Formats: sequence, structure tokens, C-alpha cells
Amino acid sequence: MTSRFLGSLLLFSGFLPAPTGRPLQTDSPARFYALVGDDVTLPCLLPMPDVTPVNLVEWYRMDRQSLGSNQQTILHAVRNGLALVKDQDPQYRGRTAIMANGSLELRNVTPRDYGNLNCKVLRPQSERREEIAVVSLIQAKVSEINLTVHQSVVHCKSSGWSPEPLISLVNATGNAFPAQKEPPVEEGGLFTVSVHLNITAFKGSETLICRVEIPGSHVLREKTITVTIPVTEVDSLEGGFWNPVIFAMLGLGLTLSILSFLFVVYMRRPKIQVLMDILMMTTTGASEDTAKNNKTFDEHGNLLIGVKASEQLASQDWIEIQKYRNTIISVGQLLRVHPALIAAIISRQSRGGTQLKPDGFGKFDSQCYGLMQINKTYHVTEGDAESSEHVKQGATFLKLLIKTMMRTKNWTREQQLKGALACYIAGTEKVIALDDPEEVDSVTPGGDFANDVVARAQWFANHGYMDTDSVD
Ligand SMILES: *[C@@H]1O[C@H](CO)[C@@H](O)[C@H](O)[C@H]1NC(C)=O
Ligand SMILES: *[C@@H]1O[C@H](CO)[C@@H](O)[C@H](O)[C@H]1NC(C)=O
Ligand SMILES: *[C@@H]1O[C@H](CO)[C@@H](O)[C@H](O)[C@H]1NC(C)=O
Ligand SMILES: *[C@@H]1O[C@H](CO)[C@@H](O)[C@H](O)[C@H]1NC(C)=O
Repeated sequence: MTSRFLGSLLLFSGFLPAPTGRPLQTDSPARFYALVGDDVTLPCLLPMPDVTPVNLVEWYRMDRQSLGSNQQTILHAVRNGLALVKDQDPQYRGRTAIMANGSLELRNVTPRDYGNLNCKVLRPQSERREEIAVVSLIQAKVSEINLTVHQSVVHCKSSGWSPEPLISLVNATGNAFPAQKEPPVEEGGLFTVSVHLNITAFKGSETLICRVEIPGSHVLREKTITVTIPVTEVDSLEGGFWNPVIFAMLGLGLTLSILSFLFVVYMRRPKIQVLMDILMMTTTGASEDTAKNNKTFDEHGNLLIGVKASEQLASQDWIEIQKYRNTIISVGQLLRVHPALIAAIISRQSRGGTQLKPDGFGKFDSQCYGLMQINKTYHVTEGDAESSEHVKQGATFLKLLIKTMMRTKNWTREQQLKGALACYIAGTEKVIALDDPEEVDSVTPGGDFANDVVARAQWFANHGYMDTDSVD
């Protein structure tokens, strides 16, 4: 009804030649959703004339004027392949383009852009035969995603969407987990969707992405969480067992009845050890920001930066960290992670526990728990803030990150360690995206996490936290 109505309006308003063709019947125009500020491509739902350049395509909007009359506002018009810029309404200047198939590209959508938009095509046979199709551009509403882990169940929820979105939990390559969806709830036109997944059976480190999207649009929000295995399963992560990797079965025809070959290829898993010679590593130490924040002055009141600042901070934390020395050494030996690295992370993350609140969360980051400041948003935290379970979890996490670096980065072992340290604080995605191993600290807070931790580890290695096993 809309387009026929529009057609007759156009006819009477005298802007256009009387159409001889019938406008396309679209009782309810196709809907397209976009957020303010989005770029959208709206299809012209009409067959394009089979000539190039297209004779005439015009996108316009009907705006209500006073006295109930409507006026055409031109978004973009093309005649003989050229944009008719002088006809374009100023509010669309520089924001539009028409594709060969008639689609309108509209950039940086503003609140005034919403509504019914018309695409008009003039047939080349006769300037007077035109067709009109209407699409409806509707404002989408999105909201924050709340993603939490509680008792080994990942919960994802988002409220305040319009229209009704789809929610899913997918892995890093976009495959959906078999998560449980709750029925959507609507209130005042806004939708709440939620999903949960029991991750008890997960092994290793798994990245989960909660994705909420409006189907058929580019409107999408995501939030990522990485969960690590429970500490009790750490031992199975250690090397030394045989693992069947490939089963291949080949059936070879019917003449000799059924013949199958079974290939089983066993591969020995590499042991992950984080025992490289810390003292041989090069490092730039703490950044000026870290130095200033921690007031690392020498006896003359000059600011120390770099390795000197890291050394001063490590030495200041030494007495506190000595309280956990037995835990650090035994976890290091059990997991084959250099104890000096564990001590250095504890120094950097919680200044040896002195920056924890009584509840075990960080004084400056209430999302992070314990000596090693494990983010509760992304991990199921284990043990008390100063317990060996907690230190095991932090060291396990570092190992898993090194595994991730070994899998994704063809870097030296020292570079992979720095990469894993950067992942520890900044998340794997940002680090994996980097090409240059020297730039891992460009994504860490203070711009120095990996280098500061390595420099502090060197200090701890020289002060009682040397690895007791031989360096491999
Ligand atoms: C029209 O062309 C554009 C650009 O080539 C393309 O992105 C779009 O999908 C096409 N739309 C339709 C409806 O064919
Ligand atoms: C996220 O969910 C948790 C648990 O359901 C709740 O305590 C918290 O307030 C929520 N946060 C936001 C920002 O909605
Ligand atoms: C995601 O899941 C698919 C199917 O289960 C799997 O093949 C793929 O390796 C997974 N990707 C990651 C990054 O775990
Ligand atoms: C998750 O699954 C495990 C094992 O299947 C089960 O023991 C546990 O109760 C489940 N947790 C919840 C909260 O349903």
C-alpha cells in the first residue's frame, strides 16, 4: 500500500513525470537495522536496467511538511552514471553512494535517517516508466554483555536490545558451544537474552566468546572470556604420555569383501617447561610510567627507570615474597616453571600481597584476585588469595599461554615467554595479532609488563629463586 500511495502522491505533487509502470507492491517494506553511527548498505529491491551506466536511480525519503503535504528529500540520485549532487539534500552530502546494483551505501547513520526510504528506477525504454521500492531503516538498540563464571558455569546475559537478538557462545573460530539458552524476555520493547554453559569437562585453556547479534544485520556485540583447566588436572598436562592423534580408515572395495586399514599414529607431546635461562634474557625493564607510579628514586632523588627500577621494586618486595618462598619453589618444581618468574609476577601484580584487600581482591583492581592477580571475570579463581592452589593456577595459566605462543608464534623461546607474559595481562587476542616480538609490551598496561617481569625475575633469580633443576 505504501508505494502505491507514494506513487499517487508523487503523481499529484507534480515533481515527477506520471509513472506508466506500476510501483512495486510492498505492503510491509523490508526492514534493515542499524545503530546511530553505523554504515549500512540498503538494497534497491528492483531489477536494474540492463544498461550501463544506469539511466536513473534515485533514493529519496518523504518528509512530512506543514499542512500535511509531503516533500521529497533526495539522499542520492544518479543519472547516466553521474551523481546529481545539486539535487542531494545537504544532510546526506559525503555520506552516500549508489552501487551498480542500485544499493545505497549510507555512512554514519544519524537519528534522522530512520524511516522508510525509497529507491526509484527509471526504465531506459521510456523516461516515463519508473518503479519504486521501499525499505525501512530502523534504529537498533544494543547493550552491554555480562559474562561471568560461577561454579564452573559460564553465564552470559544482555538486556536492552531491540529488535530481539540472537545469543550464542562460540569458540575463537566461531563454532558454537552446546550452550543452554533461556527464553528471551521482553519488557517495554526491549529484549533480554541469556545463555549458560557448564564447563566442568573442559581441558586446557578455552576461549569463549559470547555473541549477541541482530539477525540479518551487522549489529553485533561480543565479549570474550578465557577459562583455564582446574589445577587438579595440571598433571595430565605434563608431558610423558602417549596420545593417539590420527585414526584413518580406508575401505578397499567389495571384491575382497570388506577390507579396512587402521592407522594409528602416536605422537609424543612436547613437555612444556618454563625453565629457560632467565639471566640470559635481554629486557628493557620498567617503563617511565611504572617508575613514576612507584616512585623509584635513587639516593639522590633521581628517578630510576628501566632495569634499575625493576630491580628496586623487586628488592622492595623481597621480604614479603619470602613468606611464600616454599610455595613458589614447590609450585615451580611441580609445574616446571622458573620460580623467579612466579616471584616476579607476584611482585609486579600485588607487590608481594601488600596491595590486596582483606577479601583477596586487588586494592586497585577489584576484578583481580590473589597474589598473582587472576582476573575473576575471565577465570574461575581457585584457592585462597595466598594459597598454593592460587599460585599453581597462576603458573598453570602462564604455561598455557606459553603453549598458545608456541602454537601461534614462530618466535624464539625468550620471545614466546615475553609474549605469554603480555597475554597474562592483556589477553591472547591482542598479542597474537602482533607480528613483531619486540612489540609485545605495546599492548600491556604501563607498556612494560613483560619486560618489567623479566627484569624482576632476573633479580629474584640472583636472590634465592634460582631454578634447582638444570637449565634445559
Ligand atoms: C550490491 O552490490 C554491492 C557492492 O558490489 C554488494 O555489496 C551488495 O551485496 C549487492 N546487493 C545486492 C542486493 O545484490
Ligand atoms: C552481571 O551479572 C552478575 C551476576 O549475575 C551481577 O552480579 C552483576 O551485577 C551483573 N553486572 C552487570 C553490569 O549487569
Ligand atoms: C572451535 O570448535 C571447532 C569444532 O568443535 C574446532 O574444530 C575448532 O578447532 C575450535 N577452535 C578453537 C580455536 O578452539
Ligand atoms: C556441571 O557438570 C558437572 C559434571 O557433568 C556436574 O557435576 C555439575 O553439577 C554441573 N554443574 C552445574 C552447576 O550444573
